[in-house]
Amino acid sequence: MSESLLRTVPAEGFDVARVRMDFPILQRRIHDHPLVYLDNAATTQRPLQMVEAMNRYYLEYNANIHRAIHTLGYESTVAYEEAHKKVARFINARSWREILFVRNATEALNLVAMTWGKANLRAGDEVVVSLMEHHSNIVPWQMLRDSLGIILKFIPVTSDGVLDLEAADRLITPKTKLVGLVHASNVLGAINPVSEIRDLARRAGALFVLDGAQSVPHMAVDVQALDCDFFAASGHKMLGPTGIGFLYGKKSLLQTMPPFLTGGDMIATVSQEASTWNELPWKFEAGTSAVAEGIGLGAAVDYLTTLGMDNIYQYEKELGDYALQRLRNVSGLKLYGHERGESLAVFSFNLEGIHPHDGANALDRFGIAVRSGHHCAQPLMNRLGMDNTLRASFYLYNTKAEVDLLVDALGEIKKLFRA
Ligand SMILES: Cc1ncc(COP(=O)(O)O)c(C=O)c1O
Repeated sequence: MSESLLRTVPAEGFDVARVRMDFPILQRRIHDHPLVYLDNAATTQRPLQMVEAMNRYYLEYNANIHRAIHTLGYESTVAYEEAHKKVARFINARSWREILFVRNATEALNLVAMTWGKANLRAGDEVVVSLMEHHSNIVPWQMLRDSLGIILKFIPVTSDGVLDLEAADRLITPKTKLVGLVHASNVLGAINPVSEIRDLARRAGALFVLDGAQSVPHMAVDVQALDCDFFAASGHKMLGPTGIGFLYGKKSLLQTMPPFLTGGDMIATVSQEASTWNELPWKFEAGTSAVAEGIGLGAAVDYLTTLGMDNIYQYEKELGDYALQRLRNVSGLKLYGHERGESLAVFSFNLEGIHPHDGANALDRFGIAVRSGHHCAQPLMNRLGMDNTLRASFYLYNTKAEVDLLVDALGEIKKLFRA
C-alpha cells in the first residue's frame, strides 16, 4: 500500500494546497491543460482517505452485515453502524437510528413520498414545494397527485432568483400537509430562508422536508436547529461514493411510517400470515446494504469533519465572492441569481450567442469541466426564461487561480465563436 494512501487528513485549519494532495485526480491533464474541475454540484471528487476506507473493507474485513456470527461479519456490521453514527453526529441528529442509508437524495425523497405520503395524504390535501426544486423533489409528489388526488403547489421564485416569501405565506394554509424545500439551489446556489418557510409549515401543522443535497457538502447542518422532519442528501456530492445517500427522519415519524422496500433484513419476524418490522433504521434498509459505500460515506464525513464545516464554508465563501466579481466583469455573460441573500459558489450563466453545450465543449478543450443543461430543474429554468445554462460549481479543493483560468478561457471562447 502506498505511503500516500496511509496519510491521514490534515490536523486542523484549512490549507487548500494540502487538501488538493488528497485528490490525485486533480493532477490529471485534460487536452494538455491541468484539470479544473468545476462540476461539483453534479458530483464531487473523492479523497484518498475515502477510497482507502472502502478498500480496507473489501481487502480486510469484507462480509455481509447483521447475519454472520464470524469475526468478519462482526467487523463489517460495526463499521456500517458506525457510519450511521458519523452521519448522525455530522448533522446533529438526536439518534443514529434516525439516519437511513439509501442510494441517493432522489431515493430519500421518494421514500418520504411513497411511505409517509401514501400513508397520510388523502385527495384534496396539499403539498407545497418551491419552483426552485430539483426534479427529485417534484416528480414524487406529482406521482402522488396523480394516484391519490393531492394538490401540488409551488412557491414562486422572483425574477432575481429568490423565493417569494409573501406568496409562500399565502400558499401554505391549514390544508397544507407537507412543505418540501431545497436547502440550497443546484442552479443558482441560493441558500433558502429555511426558518421562514419552516415556520409557515409549522403554523399550518404541516411536515417540513429539506432537500439538503447541495447544502450539507458545503455548510454546517444541524437538523435539530433546522427543526426539519426529514433531510435528504447524497454521498457522492460530499466526497463520498456513488450509490449511497441518507435520509434523516424524526424518530417519532419513522416509527409510525410503513416500510419502503420489503424483504430481507427489514423484518423482525415473518410468518405465512404476516410480518413485523425490524428496529430503526433497518426497517428502511431492506436487502443487503451498500456496505462499502456506507463505510465510504462515513470516511467522507470524517474528512469533512476534520477540515471543519465552518472552515470549508468560509473558504468557499471567499472563493465564491472572487468568482462572482470576476464573472460579473465578463462582457456578454448573463449570470442568474446571486443578487440577494446568501449563496453557495454555484454559478449558472449564459454567454451571448453561444449555446451552453458548445460553451461546455469548448471549455473542456481548456481542461475545464463545467456542466451545461437544465440541471434537473426545468420549472426554475422556465421561470427564469432559459432552457439551458452553463454551470460552474466550486468545492473545497478549487482555487482562485482556477477562477482565473475559467475567466481567461471564457474570453478565448468568445473570440473563437466571435461572440
Ligand atoms: C438539490 C438537489 N437535490 C437532489 C438531487 C438528486 O441527487 P441524486 O441524483 O444524487 O439523487 C440533486 C442532484 O443534483 C440536487 O442538486
